[in-house]
Parts: sequence; C-alpha cells; structure tokens
Amino acid sequence: MLQVKAVKRWDKRIKDKEVTVGILGLGYVGLPLAREFAGAGIKVVGFDVDEVKVQALNAGRSIIKGVLDSEIRTLLKKGLFKATLQMGLLKRVDAILICVPTPLTKYREPDMQFVVSSCQVIAKHLRKGQLVVLESTSYPGTTREVMVPILEQSGLKAGQDFHVAYSPEREDPGNKEYRTRSIPKIVGGLTSKCLKRACALYEAVIVEVVPVSSCEAAEAAKIVENVYRCVNIAMVNELKILFDRMGIDIWEVIRAASTKPFGYQPFYPGPGLGGHCIPIDPFYLTWKARQYNLPTRFIELAGEINTQMPHYVVSKTMEALNQRGKSLKGSKILILGLAYKKDVDDVRESPSIELIELLRDKGAKVDYNDPYIRQTHKQREHNLRMRSKSLSVKMLSEYDAVLISTDHSSYDYDWIVRNSKLVIDTRNATAQVRSGGRKIVKA
Ligand SMILES: NC(=O)c1ccc[n+]([C@@H]2O[C@H](COP(=O)([O-])OP(=O)(O)OC[C@H]3O[C@@H](n4cnc5c(N)ncnc54)[C@H](O)[C@@H]3O)[C@@H](O)[C@H]2O)c1
Repeated sequence: MLQVKAVKRWDKRIKDKEVTVGILGLGYVGLPLAREFAGAGIKVVGFDVDEVKVQALNAGRSIIKGVLDSEIRTLLKKGLFKATLQMGLLKRVDAILICVPTPLTKYREPDMQFVVSSCQVIAKHLRKGQLVVLESTSYPGTTREVMVPILEQSGLKAGQDFHVAYSPEREDPGNKEYRTRSIPKIVGGLTSKCLKRACALYEAVIVEVVPVSSCEAAEAAKIVENVYRCVNIAMVNELKILFDRMGIDIWEVIRAASTKPFGYQPFYPGPGLGGHCIPIDPFYLTWKARQYNLPTRFIELAGEINTQMPHYVVSKTMEALNQRGKSLKGSKILILGLAYKKDVDDVRESPSIELIELLRDKGAKVDYNDPYIRQTHKQREHNLRMRSKSLSVKMLSEYDAVLISTDHSSYDYDWIVRNSKLVIDTRNATAQVRSGGRKIVKA
C-alpha cells in the first residue's frame, strides 16, 4: 500500500512538474534529451566533466548542430536548464539519466570507463528515492552487472532504496522527421516499481513509451537495432562491389527493389561505416557472447566487409586516376564531407578520416571541405591537423580528383561536377547531376 502511494506521489510530482532531472553527459544524446525535459517545463541540471562544454552551454551557446543557441538561451532564461561540473548537485535531483560515451578499447572490447566513473560519482551522492537510468548503449547485463553493484557501494539497495532502469537512446542526429520526443522510448526496470517510475518520467516528454520485462531486454533491443543496420549495410556494400564488376548500378537496383511495398527495406552502400553507434555497438554483443561460448558470425562478417570499404574507394580512385594517366602518388585529392553522415557535425569513426589517411599513405596530397567542421581535432586514434578549405571554382579545378565522402545537402553537386576534373562519388550524390557524367566515377 505504501509502495502504491509512493508511485502515485511520483506520478503527481511529474505531472505537476515538481521533479528535477539530472542528465549526466551533455553530448549528442544528453543535450537533446535535456531540451525535451526542460522544454516540457521540467527542470534539468546537466552534468558534464568537460569545462568548455559547460561554460559554452551556460553562456547560451549550443555545442551540437541539432540544438540551437536560441533554444539553450530560452531554457536558461526560464531557469529550466543549467549545466554544471559540480557533481555534488546530483543529490538535489530526483532522476539521473546517464548519457556518457561507450566506445571500444583499442582491442575492440567494451570500454566501460565512462559508465563506471559516472556510477562511482553518483554512488557518492545517491539518496533514497532517486531514479537512476542508463541511456548509453551497452551489452545486455550492463545495468545489473556493472551499474547496480557500483551504485550499491552507497550503502543503499537498488530496487528498494533507489530505482534503476535502462532506457536506450535512439537519437538520430540530422533526422528532420524524428527527434527525441517522437522516437518511442524502450524502458526496462530492475523491478516492476523501477519500471513504473521510469515509464512515468519518460511519458511526460516522449510520445510513446515501450515497457519491456527487464533491463536486459531493453539493452538487447538497442543492440539488435544496430546489428540490423550494420549487417544490412555490409550486405549492400558487398553487392555494390559485385554489381560494379558486372556493370550494374547498385543505386538503380536499390531504387527498383524499394518499389516492393512489403518485405524489403532499403539500405545504402557508402565509403564505410561511421558514427558512434553502428561501427561500435555490435561488438559489445560480440564481446558478451564470448561469455556464452558463442561467436557472433554475422557481426564479425559485417565488420570485415564494412571496414574494407575505404580500401575499395581508394582502389577505385586509383583506377580512375590511372585511366587519366595519373598516379595516386602526387595527386591532389579533395575530400568533400568529413562528418560520418550527411548534415551532421560529428566526425567520430568517420570513413572520411580513414580515407584521408589511406590516400596520404599512398602519397596523395589530401585536403577536405566540410561546411560543419572547420578544423579537425585530436581524436583517440587520429590527429589529422587539417582545416576545411573554402570551395571555389579555381580551387576545385586544382584538384586531380574530388571525392564525395559525405553527401551534405548544402553542396551544389551540379556546380561541383562542372568545375572538377574527376569526381569520385561514394554516396550517389551526383545522381541528379545533368551534365559531366563522364567525369563521375561511382565508388
Ligand atoms: N550520438 C548518437 O547519435 C547516439 C545515438 C544513440 C545512442 N548513442 C549512445 O549514447 C551514448 C552517448 O553518446 P553521445 O554521442 O551523446 O556521446 P558524446 O561524446 O557526444 O557525449 C558524451 C558526454 O559525456 C561527457 N562525460 C564523459 N564522462 C562523463 C562523466 N563521468 N560525467 C559526466 N559527463 C561525462 C562527455 O564530456 C560528453 O560531453 C553512447 O553510449 C552512444 O553509443 C549515441
């Protein structure tokens, strides 16, 4: 009875917008999520360890392309959002949503350092009645096996003194049709009460909440979504190479196959996989599967094919230059698009970076242009030290080849083809270009 009353009280506090939500990690996932809660009138405290980000946000400057400065400023002004480095404030919030990175180590194993350190900090400040939800993508078992034991170092018991859930983030940066609020939210709780609390919170801001029976089911659902994409993209990437040899255009084939009104969903080939999710998350499952003595063959095979794609693009570039009497060594190549996909400013795992390195290794002189990435920054495995070159008729004509790696919508592809000597198109971005077809090589 007491429990029922507590749940009702929680629901009422959410309805009355009396709860405060803490979001740990203000990146591509955490910031849009903060915008949803704060935009709905629920107070948000955003926690991050990056001082530059926190200062920028508190000064009303967004740190990602998908969230506007004006939106941040409005929320700051209304007192509905603030960013902080002070983890002590965690004890003042009612729910803590963890949105920190989950990358791979250099041995391609789950790198849990950010999840672990977040949970350690939360444990220090945890108080009775709080709800803690992990949103970062991870293998099934993470919430129960990694998160709960650390949180319980607080002396409080999960499921009794505080509530725990897993709710995967399905954010799709750059997607104009769906944003955080309109993407159904899967939720799994440690106990049924944990589930109820977490669902009630998300229902305040998300159009559809999908409860599942456990944290593990929710964790697995997210990984399945990403494995599905990774495997299907690998399949079309492999077919692209085959059809190219057969003189068939994969893009035309996909367009035709997509006319089937059922049983087929189009996936598109590209220069390789990019982003924080698809190239990484499936390997979280591969790692976990070893504990059960099972290989994840589809994932491994897809990984093998997808990681070969930049090499394929380089060999097509080499071939195209060769046909024009040029060697790749000494050639000037301009990469268009550094981001991992169109219309975003995120370069993590971007195949463009791999392309630049491969082309440079072979002696090419490489530059890039990306309207959203003015210069490169040091990453864990790369440090290109490059600045985006401004596009002009004169500069385009100076390159032996222009390689379209990311098909940003803002590019004028007619103009690019008209003014370039050779265009290597990995995205079918030039499909609508009316003239200059002989200069275009699909790769
Ligand atoms: N980017 C996407 O499109 C996307 C989509 C769905 C799911 N995800 C998943 O969401 C999670 C977050 O990804 P992201 O793209 O937002 O990452 P991100 O790198 O953009 O943001 C993570 C933020 O967490 C901060 N951080 C790191 N350690 C911290 C700590 N101990 N305390 C507080 N803040 C800390 C970082 O400074 C950074 O600002 C990952 O698990 C990712 O796989 C990402």
